[in-house]
Amino acid sequence: MPNSKNTLSGEALLEVIQSDFIGLNTKYKLATGETTRRIYLDSTASTLMMGSAYRAAADFLNHYANTHSVMHYSARIATDTFAWVHDRIRDFVGADPAEYTCFFTGSGVTAGMNRMARTFKHLRPERNIVLISIMEHHSNDLPHRKHGGTVIHIPVDTHESHMGCIDLVLLKTYLEEYRDKINYVSVTGISNVTGIINPINEVARLVHEYGAYLIVDAAQMAAHVPIRMSGHQNPLHNVDALVISGHKTYAPGSPGVVVARKSLLESLEPEEVGGGMVDRVFPDSYIISDEFPTREEAGTPNIYGAVLLGAAIDILDRIGMEKVLRDDQTITNRALEAMLKFEDVVVYGETDVNSCPRAGTISFNIRHYNHGLVAAILNDYFNIAVRNECFCAHPYVEKMLELTHSREIHIARVRQVKDWHAEPWMGMVRVSFGIYNTPADVDHFIHALDEIIRRRDEFKELYFINDHGDYEHKTFKFRSGEYFCLNSAVESEINMLAADKPAE
Ligand SMILES: Cc1ncc(COP(=O)(O)O)c(C=O)c1O
Repeated sequence: MPNSKNTLSGEALLEVIQSDFIGLNTKYKLATGETTRRIYLDSTASTLMMGSAYRAAADFLNHYANTHSVMHYSARIATDTFAWVHDRIRDFVGADPAEYTCFFTGSGVTAGMNRMARTFKHLRPERNIVLISIMEHHSNDLPHRKHGGTVIHIPVDTHESHMGCIDLVLLKTYLEEYRDKINYVSVTGISNVTGIINPINEVARLVHEYGAYLIVDAAQMAAHVPIRMSGHQNPLHNVDALVISGHKTYAPGSPGVVVARKSLLESLEPEEVGGGMVDRVFPDSYIISDEFPTREEAGTPNIYGAVLLGAAIDILDRIGMEKVLRDDQTITNRALEAMLKFEDVVVYGETDVNSCPRAGTISFNIRHYNHGLVAAILNDYFNIAVRNECFCAHPYVEKMLELTHSREIHIARVRQVKDWHAEPWMGMVRVSFGIYNTPADVDHFIHALDEIIRRRDEFKELYFINDHGDYEHKTFKFRSGEYFCLNSAVESEINMLAADKPAE
């Protein structure tokens, strides 16, 4: 595809892209009566939409057609674009086209992880053990429990109070103990709770020395850190399979992505079957295509979403992921440094960023103050959107809460409490950053934290716990329908069409 030499890239591109996201100027009325701009600090859950990727994908819609159609012009454009997107994403994660394929599945990492767990299980049923770290999101845990085999959680490090990145010495101990029984290891590139970055290529080397495969959960990693799956001088450093969530990579509405070695997939019938991936179908049998990624994408794919993600990833690559990471860490470390100055704030996970670098995410609590209350005040009084509770990483969060809630945990264990929501103290507040966040956003958040700590009793009086167990303001009520209602949006579109229609 054409590439102009004059097109912006690197730092200059980052500068213009940062302010071009849909939703950066969204305003809400607060409990104070003021109307202010929302500060979005919840990118670890889902990022905002990159404007230029959205417009490029909208342009594609002029040629939209099903990639399974063949002859007409639009079908050819759609097919070529869809193929280009696969190649683009595979290049983005540094995966050699001769060895790796890239395919779309589901709406995030979850579907891809289920798929790879079943694939590895079929590949080597005699090896029944899967190692994962304690820091994994449930989507990189439960699929392996259900489809992969017996899952063993490795503690992240030997100094539990620090809870840093995956400790290679400890990992080796587990690999040694279960050697020959381990089919694969699956670890996250970046924790969705602490933002701690794992040395995935070092993990790959170790895992491969023991004859196991490695899956990397790149749900958080893809938008924050450069990835190189293959081409390392020592091939043991190469990663076997990696899974991405498009909605966390500045393309909400896009599918999940799997990039994996073809050799792992080609010996097995694809997990999902249906239209588009077969060469011939007879009444009593069928012949599956040999071609990648066709054979892995049964049914009509999310073509538009994939194109959107391809555009966002192309832009990230034009900026350069080293630059994206540097910028990200400037913001993350600015927040971390300021948070560590508050005596009443506890930041979870290792906070020495030199020994244990982070990107994009910080989870914390204000001592003796509920995480749900903090999230509610940040929202209602400061227009700061954050996430709270356990972030779909219960074992990791429970382990880290021992730092601040050891008494409560002990009592809950003695009482054998199973329902996490029944325990209101179980949780943290998470702030997370995307490439659109500025130092001013961080400073606003730090100011809010300071206010909450200083006025903690006053704020607490303004809330009650509702029937769902959430903190709710006693007098200020927010109604989402005042800001957006799809039905009204549809009506206003129809009215605009009617106004444009020439009089008959
Ligand atoms: C590290 C990590 N892995 C997996 C997932 C699951 O991704 P998805 O919900 O897109 O399937 C998430 C989502 O937050 C995540 O942060």
